[in-house]
Amino acid sequence: MIEIKNVTKRFQDKKVSVTALNHVSFKVGEGEVVGLLGENGAGKTTLLRSIATLHTPTEGEINVGGYDTVKQSEKIKRRIGVLFGGETGLYNRLTTRENLEYFASLYHLSKHETKVRIDELTKMFGMRDFLDRKVDGFSKGMRQKVAIARTIIHDPDIILFDEPTTGLDITASNVFRQLVQELKQEGKTIIFSSHIMEEVDLLCDHVAMIHKGELVYHGEKEALYREENSRDLNYIFMSKLVRGTEGYAI
Ligand SMILES: Nc1ncnc2c1ncn2[C@@H]1O[C@H](COP(=O)(O)OP(=O)(O)OP(=O)(O)O)[C@@H](O)[C@H]1O
Ligand SMILES: [Mg+2]
Repeated sequence: MIEIKNVTKRFQDKKVSVTALNHVSFKVGEGEVVGLLGENGAGKTTLLRSIATLHTPTEGEINVGGYDTVKQSEKIKRRIGVLFGGETGLYNRLTTRENLEYFASLYHLSKHETKVRIDELTKMFGMRDFLDRKVDGFSKGMRQKVAIARTIIHDPDIILFDEPTTGLDITASNVFRQLVQELKQEGKTIIFSSHIMEEVDLLCDHVAMIHKGELVYHGEKEALYREENSRDLNYIFMSKLVRGTEGYAI
């Protein structure tokens, strides 16, 4: 369970203060797949980084599996896997296998566990052809596959993906989509941000929408469709932004 309680995050940029999140509250239950929607600069990455213990909220608090993201970040880090858009976190001079072994060592996986896990992930992502090639020179899709694999090397219960399919071709996006469906069946809790409504519609059971740092909707996707009398998430999203937080009770 993830509990985001009245979280405000302000960044002080020289003399200008930017409010990236403004009193955001919602809960994510175990096994839920949540799509995080919002325009550029809405606060999605800031929220994901805050859940991942990488930002300290200016106000409010976040609990992940009962642990506080500020006071008990070490406990949380073991249980979550995080992948931020544009940052693969991979080492170019290492091979796919060496990268995965390195990340496995950070989570103290034994040699045997590491081998078993790398085998599983290699099969899952079709990485056999480049398992022993240096990451340097990989295409974007290849890199993203390895990056997703390293994100879940320690088999985390909670996975945060920030725009995981941006810039990927159809094949690589489909690999990601299939993976989310598999992880969902395993009962993992997943939050991912996306600008691709089709992806959110396909994969998520819950939706959270942020507009200018404020939560304008959070709830079950199907309930949202019923409420709005539409299944057009693009249209619903745009109309929610226009209406803003008006009439929305957290
Ligand atoms: N480290 C930082 N220092 C200063 N301002 C920041 C920092 N991180 C984020 N911001 C600001 O917070 C706001 C929210 O940014 P954020 O990256 O969370 O948006 P986003 O919803 O992820 O956007 P995008 O879709 O473009 O990735 C923006 O105004 C951004 O400039
Ligand atoms: Mg972002």
